[in-house]
Amino acid sequence: MPLVPMRQILDEAAKGGYGVGAFNVNNMEQIQAIMEAANETNSPVIIQASRGALKYSRMIYLKKLMEAAVIEYPHIPVAMHLDHGNSIETLKQAIDLGFTSVMMDGSLAEDGKTPNTYEQNVAITKAAVELAHPLGVTVEGELGCLGGIEDGHGAGLSADEVSDHLTDPAQAEDFVAQTGLDALAVAIGTSHGAYKSGRKDPKTGETLPPALAMDRIHEIHKRMPNCHMVMHGSSSVPKELVDIINQYGGKMPGTFGIPVEQIQDGIRHGVRKINVDTDSRLAMTGAVRKVFFEKPEKFDPRDWLGPAREAAKQVYLQRMEAFGQAGHAGDYKPMSLDDMKKVYGR
Ligand code: G3H
Ligand code: 13P
Ligand code: ZN
Repeated sequence: MPLVPMRQILDEAAKGGYGVGAFNVNNMEQIQAIMEAANETNSPVIIQASRGALKYSRMIYLKKLMEAAVIEYPHIPVAMHLDHGNSIETLKQAIDLGFTSVMMDGSLAEDGKTPNTYEQNVAITKAAVELAHPLGVTVEGELGCLGGIEDGHGAGLSADEVSDHLTDPAQAEDFVAQTGLDALAVAIGTSHGAYKSGRKDPKTGETLPPALAMDRIHEIHKRMPNCHMVMHGSSSVPKELVDIINQYGGKMPGTFGIPVEQIQDGIRHGVRKINVDTDSRLAMTGAVRKVFFEKPEKFDPRDWLGPAREAAKQVYLQRMEAFGQAGHAGDYKPMSLDDMKKVYGR
């Protein structure tokens, strides 16, 4: 099966009332782990690459690995998505490479840091739709800004500033109407990376869970029941994964993630794509540290990349079950980009 347009995966998820994990990849082991998990759970899946991932993998390697993935598992619908595209040029590059979906993150300027104005965001997202839809390619946009600056994405907002940059539901309605995008990434107080809280108990100094504005998602869903929402920064940062890292020489104090139950609440209210990167990074790092610690004589990369791949796979398996995509790979006949062009042309 060739790669399918992400729009179809999201439309089908909406029909079935489930969410689909969008997992970031940089290398062969992550792609293999996702595909093994998708195969074992019979899940449709979204695989995404950031600009950093494209640079790291030198693009053509990622393309060929994706081709291998769909050849090995022809019964699994897979969308290949560009995460946090920062310019029309980057989008063109990804589309030329064969991506079936792109994110134009117009919430931020091309530097990936400075917040854009609403008008700038509308203009660039609209331009992305005008580029992608005639080619059958899906477009994700973002309204509002996530917290933090980890991984080079984000305006570096503090916990207090984040509340001024949450997605406004009325503006979201206007944004979707003006741009014609397929999927709307919302800012509800999440951030990228393993330190999502930024809040401390004033009395004990203990890290508190991030305060999420789930009501924004509820309200957007009420106003636009057919809008596919995307939750970024949705790693759960499980304590057991961080504990393994710390147990074997790592130093990651004060981490915090998004509880799966909150994501499931979002899924009941129109969230269809859930971005997860950090959790697989944690799983892989813990597995590698463990091998290095317990078997210091090992030097064959397969001895640590193998366990890293297996640890990441366990994360993907759990998320595919929790988000509800498990069991849905065979529900529909996959569309091609040509089929999708006709849908957009109507
Ligand atoms: O959006 C953030 C993702 O976790 C990708 O991060 O730019 O380090 O690849 P990255
Ligand atoms: P996490 O850092 O929570 O995994 O979020 C990833 C993400 O949103 C990629 O766009
Ligand atoms: Zn993101």
